[in-house]
Amino acid sequence: MKLVKFNLIFIPILALCFVAIGYVVHQSLMQAAQQQVAQNARLIMETALSSRTYTTKQVAPLLLQKNFKLQTAVAELRKTIEEVPKSIDQDVPNNLRVSVRKGFVLGQQHALSALEQFLDSIKGKSEELLDNEFHPQSVPAFAATEIFGYLRQKFPDYFYKEATLNPTNLRDRATDWETDVVNRFRGESGPEEIMATRQTPNGDSLFLARPIKVNNVSCLECHSTAEKAPAEMIKLYGAANGFGWQMNDVIGAQIVSVPVAVPFQLATDAFKLLVWWLAGGFVAILVLANILVAILSARRSPRDSSASR
Ligand code: HEC
Repeated sequence: MKLVKFNLIFIPILALCFVAIGYVVHQSLMQAAQQQVAQNARLIMETALSSRTYTTKQVAPLLLQKNFKLQTAVAELRKTIEEVPKSIDQDVPNNLRVSVRKGFVLGQQHALSALEQFLDSIKGKSEELLDNEFHPQSVPAFAATEIFGYLRQKFPDYFYKEATLNPTNLRDRATDWETDVVNRFRGESGPEEIMATRQTPNGDSLFLARPIKVNNVSCLECHSTAEKAPAEMIKLYGAANGFGWQMNDVIGAQIVSVPVAVPFQLATDAFKLLVWWLAGGFVAILVLANILVAILSARRSPRDSSASR
């Protein structure tokens, strides 16, 4: 009778503890998973920014410097070509016999025409030596996008994009939902950052977005009009898109997407394991408590009966 009473009180208390602990642990595990996903997204965003900085600070100046050196070298070469004598030396020594003098002049003519041929061939080559090509590798947006292309070969669910409304490279064109994100940044007092979860065919995905603003007049060299942009760039990208950007305009957004499935699955697994251990522990406590109560009440009973006598 005592055991029944005891259990009537003890089991609800245990159950309440079980539910309370389960709830708190579940909440904190899920919160930790959420934070981990967000942290992943931030890490990727910072990596993208680093690769952009690397390109601006190291790759672009290097290419410029190389090109400058080449231009100087080619200019020197041209000057040398100009300075080479182009007519034969008329100062033939007078004390030579006529036949030798003729030979002397003929020899000079031959040497000169060979030299002219050689100079002509170099003149053509000097143009080829100049590096007039446009190298997208020095464009930060290109570098960041390419680097993430390689990363995706190993982690296909991770994604980085410089989603742009009117992009130079059409692969950067914002899709429907990305356009919404960009437009939120374009609105009056738009947010500094947007983080939200989105459903994709491959499961839920968390995205982190930051606005891309035309924050430097240098951007307008290549993004204002096709006439102002380098001709070699137009050859590569065409004159149809990626122009008409304005100073201080938000023209796109950096968007990082990371899958949420893995961290949440890990958290759920950890939670399930904890629930089993907790359940096991509580059952053990219940059994032990019952045994204890049974022993105590058995010991107390004879004394109780003797006391009542
Ligand atoms: C030397 C020319 C040049 C300059 C200067 C330049 N860009 Fe670009 N930008 C490009 C090219 C070329 C691309 C396309 C790269 C690719 O193929 O991914 C591009 C791409 C981009 C993209 C990706 C979307 C798109 O258009 O394809 C963004 C965003 C961007 N640029 C922003 C900027 C900003 C902001 C600045 C100024 C800080 C800037 N650019 C300066 C040439 C330039």
